Parts: sequence; structure tokens; C-alpha cells
Amino acid sequence: MTTKARKKPDELRSHRWYGVNDMRSFGHRSRTAQMGYHRSDYAGKPVIAIINTWSDINPCHSHFRQRAEEVKRGIWQAGGFPVEMPAISLSEPFQKPTTMLYRNLLAMETEELLRSYPADGCVLMGGCDKTTPALVMGALSMNLPSIFVPAGPMLRGDFKGQFLGSGSDTWKYWAELRAGNITEDDWRGVEEGIARSPGHCMTMGTASTMTSATEAMGLTLPGAASIPAPDSRHSQMATLSGKRIVDMVWEDLCIRDIVDARAIDNAVTTVLALGGSTNAIVHLIALARRAGVDLDLARFDALARRTPVLADIRPTGRFLMEDFYYAGGLRGLMSRLTDLLDTTVPTVNGRTLGENLDGSQVHQDEVIRPRTRPLVPNDGLAVLHGNLAPDGAVIKPAAMEAHLHRHCGPAVVFRDYNDMAARIDDPALPVTRDSVIVLQSAGPQGAPGMPEWGQLPIPKKLLQQGVRDMLRISDARMSGTSYGACVLHVAPESHIGGPLALVRDGDLIELDVAARRLELKVPADELAARRAAWTAPAAHYQRGFGALYLKHVKQANEGCDFDFLEHGAGTADPEIH
Ligand code: FES
Repeated sequence: MTTKARKKPDELRSHRWYGVNDMRSFGHRSRTAQMGYHRSDYAGKPVIAIINTWSDINPCHSHFRQRAEEVKRGIWQAGGFPVEMPAISLSEPFQKPTTMLYRNLLAMETEELLRSYPADGCVLMGGCDKTTPALVMGALSMNLPSIFVPAGPMLRGDFKGQFLGSGSDTWKYWAELRAGNITEDDWRGVEEGIARSPGHCMTMGTASTMTSATEAMGLTLPGAASIPAPDSRHSQMATLSGKRIVDMVWEDLCIRDIVDARAIDNAVTTVLALGGSTNAIVHLIALARRAGVDLDLARFDALARRTPVLADIRPTGRFLMEDFYYAGGLRGLMSRLTDLLDTTVPTVNGRTLGENLDGSQVHQDEVIRPRTRPLVPNDGLAVLHGNLAPDGAVIKPAAMEAHLHRHCGPAVVFRDYNDMAARIDDPALPVTRDSVIVLQSAGPQGAPGMPEWGQLPIPKKLLQQGVRDMLRISDARMSGTSYGACVLHVAPESHIGGPLALVRDGDLIELDVAARRLELKVPADELAARRAAWTAPAAHYQRGFGALYLKHVKQANEGCDFDFLEHGAGTADPEIH
């Protein structure tokens, strides 16, 4: 653990705002008094910024107003001064074209809020997909003492006595509706029962994956990520996190003291054992680079080859996050992986990961499988290369039909999302169950924002023939709640001239998951001729944040961070005048 000397009050960062005796600090103090605080409320105490991503349009964070109050209670009790700072709420279900376009904006906002205000430490409140990586990325660049309060998963969905899973059951019942197997009334029942409490998606989607990864990295109190949002233990965790961050400031236990290459490997291994979302690849690469760790696709693939999937959670498995919590939660799962984790790493509570796992148990082996009976022995994720994806692509072998692990078929190409939406259900579309559906222009620049379009729809006429999986390829991402033989994150993307842009209807494409290969079976001279005839599409934005994004965003295999943010130390603190 950290060997730093305990901080003194006049060494606090906020001392420069509050503690000195000049006209500017007079202003800071008088304006704090204006808000009803007496000097004794804050003098000589750590100022704790609570970065809260609550908003009226984010259902996953609808309990965060109350949780922020519970965090404040802990901060007051421990002798700190809480300051809640709202930050952009990336609401996955509502924000267009995709929250991914704005992940780096929240990361920038987090970093700049912490830098420009008198924060000595911070509590990061997130959970809905992109909020978690964004908050952690920003905090890493600022490098203050930081603790993460995860939103927690919502309760299981309910429909006619069946448990419903976020996303996964939407796709499933939508396919059944299109196939004519359920009624409009049934579909309405699914709508009303699938999301029935505060909290993030309760399948192993991006939210559960990334909050679990954050816990595995050591950035939450032990067990925090698995607690369902409405559970009273979630409130207790929020208050305890508030108490703890105050001590972290005195101990000068900063986020980069915790997040290093070992912690990142622990996060990747945990994500793999959870059967986590492919989105974690993009987010963890970006996050690791903010911490100065050069995580790449090859490291994911290497860890995937040795890591079993133990969590039997949808979409890979059968259960939901509520079941996972009752079965022992993330501590239970990690206690079954100790030989694959570095348990000597520090965590926010001042103990090592191994000390935090002491005494953890698994109560239901069906939900958290023993090592002798994994859900999938390895390869929860796989990284592909070949002439169609020179810089890599990813697939989730555990969540696809096994007969497609090795497949060769003719391409059916859609030039963009609108083209796909217009033609996918055309009865005349020349597509069979052996076809390979290809979507272009869905990457970081192309869509733009690399939306979760990667679970390309299966044509209606094939659904009616009973087809539920087929090979699909795009430069998009896929929701972690999705499933199927979907090759994702193809890099470089088609919009900037990656080979995906050169695919034409009828071209043969070959996938071999075991060999990690993805090949476009077209002669090199023909591809060269197509490349010579290819012209770059126009950029989507000429102004505003969109233009900044297009100018600086990196490709999927590099984490989609901005080139001017991904490496190096954070910007220096401002001069205080
Ligand atoms: Fe917020 Fe899924 S919509 S986590």
C-alpha cells in the first residue's frame, strides 16, 4: 500500500482556495457563506467533489439524487466537506446518435471539473454504459484520490412469470414478434415489465461489465458493483464510500496509485470470467492508456485463452445480476479466480484485493460456476485478424451458435444503417442462412460515434424459417446485452478506407474463430482496383463537438480516445488568483 505521509490541512489542494489570507480566498469564503455554510463546516477539511451523472432522462441513475445525499452523509461524518457537481448524463436509451460519441466529452468534463474547482478528492457516480469508463478516464488524467459509486443493476424484469433481461429479451421478443410467434399485447407486456426499478441494465451488458471491471481494478468498496440499486445495502455502500474518500485524501491515496498494469489485467480477466461485453475492450484500452498502461487487443486475446467464463448470466448464460448478487456477487466470482489475478494490488479501502476477497463465498454454484464446471472453458472473447481487419476485430464466441465458429459464405452488403433498414426485410433480398451480412459506415467516424448497431438484424424471411443466428460483420460496437455471431470493431473502419469498405455483394468471407482469422476471399489485384476507385465520404460534422470528435478520435483497436488526451500526465493545476 501507499507509503506516503499523511497530509496536513495546509497541504490540501483546497487550501489554496480557502486557507490563505488574500482577497481571492475572501471571495471563496464569502461565497461559501452565501450558500449557508459556516467556516467551521469546511475550514481545514478535505473538499470532496461528488461527480453525479444523475438527470431526469437517465432511468439507470434515477436513484442518484438520494444516493448523493447518502454519500454526503458519509463525507460529513468523516470530517470532509461535500460538494456535488453535476456532469453530463450519458443516458444509453435516449441519447442520439450514440452515447459513445460523448464518452470522451464526459471524461473531459470530469477532468476539468476536478482541476478547475477546489477538489481534494472525488466520488464518481456512474453506471449506465459509458458513464463508468468516462468518469474513470477523467479521474485518471486528474489523479486525485477517487472512489467509484456504481449505480447497481436494476431488479429482474418480469413478464407472465418469466424473468426478463435488459436488452437480451428485447432482441429475443422483437425477433419473435417479427416471426409472428407473439402478439402485440405480449409485446406490450414485455415493454411494461422489462425495466421495473432504478438501476442499470441487469444482464451482463456494458454497465454490469464496466462497473465490475472498476471494482476489479480496486476503485470501489469490496462487493459494491453487484448490489442491486434498490437494495438498502446500496445506500449503505454509498455512505461508506463517502466516509472512505475523506481518509483517502488524508492518506494521499490517488487513483494512479491503484490503477496500474496489474490492476488492468485483473479487470480484463474479471470481464472475461463474467462473459462481459465486447465494449469493455474499447473502454479498458482507453482507460488503461490514461493510466499509462499500453493495453492492446493482443493482451485481451492472451488473457481470454486462459480465462474460463464462470458467470452464468445472460446473454451468455441464464441468470441476471440480481441472482448474481444473491449467489455471492463479484467477490464470490473473483474468489474462484485468485490464481489468475494479482491479489497483491492495492484498492481504495486501503487493503489489498486478496485481503478484500478473504471470507467471500459462492452460495449458488449454478450462477457462479466452479472452475471444474465452467460455463465456457475459455475464449469468452476472441480477437480476429486478416485482410478484412488488418488492425483487428472482435467476436464473442461464447454468445454465438457453435456451428458458425468456422464459416464461409457470400456477403450481402449494406452501405450504411439506413440502407440496411430499408432492405433487410425485402423478400427479394438474395440472402440465405449461409450468407454473411456486412454493414459499412458504422465505426467511430462512419456512423459517427461507433453506435451499437453490430447485432445486425436477421432478415425476416430467415427468421420465419427458424434462423436465429448467422454471421454478421461491421465496424460498429454491439450492446453487451446482445448475442450472436457478430464480428465487431473492424479496424480500420470502412469510413476511412478500411478493407470493409471494399466488400461487394457475393464476395466470399471466411471466419475461423479458432485460428483467429477473418478473410475476404478476393484476389489482391481486384482489391487494389477497388481501392483505387474508392472515394472518402464527406465528414459528418463541420462544427461543434462533433467536429472536434471527428478530428481527434482514434480507431476501435486504440480505444476511441482523443489523440490529445490518451497519454501523458494531466494538465497542471491552474494558478489560483
Ligand atoms: Fe443504462 Fe443499459 S440503459 S445501463
